[in-house]
Amino acid sequence: MYVCLCNAVSDKTLREVVRRYQPKSLQQLRQLVPVGNQCGKCIRDARAIMDQEMQNLPLYKEAV
Ligand code: FES
Repeated sequence: MYVCLCNAVSDKTLREVVRRYQPKSLQQLRQLVPVGNQCGKCIRDARAIMDQEMQNLPLYKEAV
């Protein structure tokens, strides 16, 4: 499913990017994928997906 319609970014893409690059913030995520730079409606969903994926990363769990 598309998270960001303006840039055609899917949840799958977002999850892959978060897993691979482990961005520390939404700003970092946005430097990796063009999400939320048009209408901004997808920001909340993008953040939720990023948080979900980060919770599942083993390193992140150890650091918390
Ligand atoms: S839906 Fe992502 S910027 Fe519009």
